[in-house]
Amino acid sequence: MAKSKVIFYCKECGNETSKWQGQCPACKAWNTLEEAPSERIVAGKSVKTSVKVGDVTPTRYKDITTEKEVRTGTGMAELDRVLGGGIVAGSLVLVGGDPGIGKSTLLLQMCRNLSKEGKKVLYASGEESLKQIKMRGDRIGEFSDSLFLLSETNMTAVEMAIEKLEPEVVIVDSIQTMYEENIDAAPGSVSQVREITAVLLRIAKKNSISIFIVGHVTKEGNVAGPRMLEHMVDNVLYFEGDPSASYRILRAVKNRFGSTNEIGVFEMREMGLVEVPNPSEYMMQGKPVGEPGSVVACAIEGTRSFVIEVQALACNTYFNVPRRTAAGTDYNRVNLLLAVVEKRLGMQLSSYDIYVNVAGGLRITEPAMDLGIVAAVVSSFKGKAIPDDMVIFGEVGLVGEVRAVTQCEKRVVEAAKSGFKQCIMPMTNLENIQKSGQLKNSDIKLVGIRNIRELLNHI
Ligand code: TYD
Ligand code: MG
Repeated sequence: MAKSKVIFYCKECGNETSKWQGQCPACKAWNTLEEAPSERIVAGKSVKTSVKVGDVTPTRYKDITTEKEVRTGTGMAELDRVLGGGIVAGSLVLVGGDPGIGKSTLLLQMCRNLSKEGKKVLYASGEESLKQIKMRGDRIGEFSDSLFLLSETNMTAVEMAIEKLEPEVVIVDSIQTMYEENIDAAPGSVSQVREITAVLLRIAKKNSISIFIVGHVTKEGNVAGPRMLEHMVDNVLYFEGDPSASYRILRAVKNRFGSTNEIGVFEMREMGLVEVPNPSEYMMQGKPVGEPGSVVACAIEGTRSFVIEVQALACNTYFNVPRRTAAGTDYNRVNLLLAVVEKRLGMQLSSYDIYVNVAGGLRITEPAMDLGIVAAVVSSFKGKAIPDDMVIFGEVGLVGEVRAVTQCEKRVVEAAKSGFKQCIMPMTNLENIQKSGQLKNSDIKLVGIRNIRELLNHI
């Protein structure tokens, strides 16, 4: 018997090594190497290749014809947008997110819509029994008879079901519960997940079936175990949001057939997920009126703009080192902005605890949020409210300068549409708008500033 060669994989970066080490030599993460018996899978098969030189003919670039790929609508505009316009035949899509965020619900709703259109759909679940799925389904609504369920964790059985049924769309919920018999590892381990994804990839490409894989996410934000899953699939969608709040954001992190960073917004209700076509309106719900520390900024994610509330709280500290927290935005960026405020505006923030929060459960890291964060901190520090009809955006540099942001017109249009009357923005952007003569007819007052000191004159 051939001795099986053992390989170790890093759960974080997918790097292979021949011996176990505490630290991954590639990404330097600790305790991430996991054993994967690689050769055993192919044991018994001849290693000799069957490919002959004559068999391989590269195609001339010009001779390749491309038809516009056919997209199938999911019946949910928000999901279609994130997918880049609908489901591409033969694509492999990973839907990641925390447990309980609503992945199964979203995909079951998609199955319902597809089956209503007469598409044959298979939903293979390793997590729930058929009864449990049906109970959830009953809350979601009417189903047609071209939807088939399978409660199974053995990948070979799932494969057989696909062969037998020949569906157009398959859901595998979740990758962590499925296992391949001839691999000597627990379900959810790196080698299992790798192999199962490879099997699904083959099925998708060979039979032109679109497959959606559900993957749970670890605390660090990776799909449990293998990052390598992300390279293997065509699309990676992450479902974000605070499980205790009702907003859910679906974000395209990778998309071979469209743009990334596109978001879809949903609300979780009793009868499943409801689309939110106008996020601005949604984000403004519950915004306090006339309170210091609350500012409205305007963000862009993918092709979408929306207004969003930024909150800050500055209060006297009882610790030697003041506390700083940042929810929904980048912690280091917030610290940097606080340093800029302290130095350039001369505010003694070091004796204050400062908490910053982007309301709505969304995580926004674009630089255009900087000025909104600064304004919120200043407003809370001084105990002075910012006008409720004002939107503030701009990037802040280290010397306190306010720098231009991308797609400024789009932000202003969104602010005006949401009913705001004044907008503080980078001077460079304002000059460009005035030069181009755009936005002449909108009744929003535009104010350009060059640095954060000028901000104090307006708030
Ligand atoms: P689920 O789709 O099971 O999450 P995941 O597959 O990502 O683990 O979502 C479960 C949560 O959603 C659960 O806490 C209950 C809630 N939910 C509703 O609020 N309304 C509904 O109609 C459904 C089906 C679920
Ligand atoms: Mg689930």
